[in-house]
Amino acid sequence: MTTIAFIGSGHIGGTVARLSVEAGYDVVLSNSRGPETLKDLVDELGPKARAATPAEAAEAGDLVVVSIPLRAYRDVPVEPLAGKPVIDTNNYYSQRDGDFPRLDDGSLTSSELLQQHLPASRVVKVFNNIFFVHLRALPRPSGAPDRTALPIAGDDAAAKETVTAFLDAIGYDAVDAGPLAQGWRFQPGTPVYGNAYAGDDPNFAQSPGVPAGTEKIRTALDAARR
Ligand SMILES: NC(=O)c1ccc[n+]([C@@H]2O[C@H](COP(=O)([O-])OP(=O)(O)OC[C@H]3O[C@@H](n4cnc5c(N)ncnc54)[C@H](OP(=O)(O)O)[C@@H]3O)[C@@H](O)[C@H]2O)c1
Repeated sequence: MTTIAFIGSGHIGGTVARLSVEAGYDVVLSNSRGPETLKDLVDELGPKARAATPAEAAEAGDLVVVSIPLRAYRDVPVEPLAGKPVIDTNNYYSQRDGDFPRLDDGSLTSSELLQQHLPASRVVKVFNNIFFVHLRALPRPSGAPDRTALPIAGDDAAAKETVTAFLDAIGYDAVDAGPLAQGWRFQPGTPVYGNAYAGDDPNFAQSPGVPAGTEKIRTALDAARR
């Protein structure tokens, strides 16, 4: 696996792209406005980065990161993502995304919604519960005592293995929260969302980021209540 592609290259997509390049991967970035609008980020990332359309990025990626406002999920290219592991960083905020009744009533998780849109892809939920500033600040080498862990969820074991190896390469451990239906355990409002990486400061966006290891993240996932 050498190429990580991005549908959405903003705060989270751009941060994962930076970590990917630092780990030696090639990256292909895309957004809604067109490749030319990503020139500054491509220049910053250097020769391992290029920009493309979402369809081209989806085609190019061995692993594809979807990181867009959830309301736009139907725009994610379907056919070029068939068979591929797809990372979903998205969160649902009705005030931003409009109302999705099955997300409101808890009968579906937001990552299951993306999986339904991408039936032949293998969706893995990750990165949605960490503020992008903390994601940038907290990578550590494998085995470091202050390494941070991220929850993952997915229905395909091989895709979760791929994502776990990717996380390891960019500086994070993974905690398996189960299938996509368990993704609610780290959706907005849960104990592991945001402030777990801010030393439990509820104003997590003001924190520079505090490491949170496997045990802390596992405990927080187990403490989630609907
Ligand atoms: N910010 C965080 O710290 C954070 C943390 C965890 C999870 N998240 C979640 O991750 C997702 C992305 O958040 P963000 O903060 O990175 O957002 P952002 O900075 O606003 O970036 C969104 C990106 O998505 C692109 N985009 C929008 N509509 C698109 C479409 N129809 N097709 C292709 N690309 C499209 C945007 O491109 P254009 O600018 O060209 O439209 C932009 O590159 C959201 O669901 C958010 O809730 C955010």
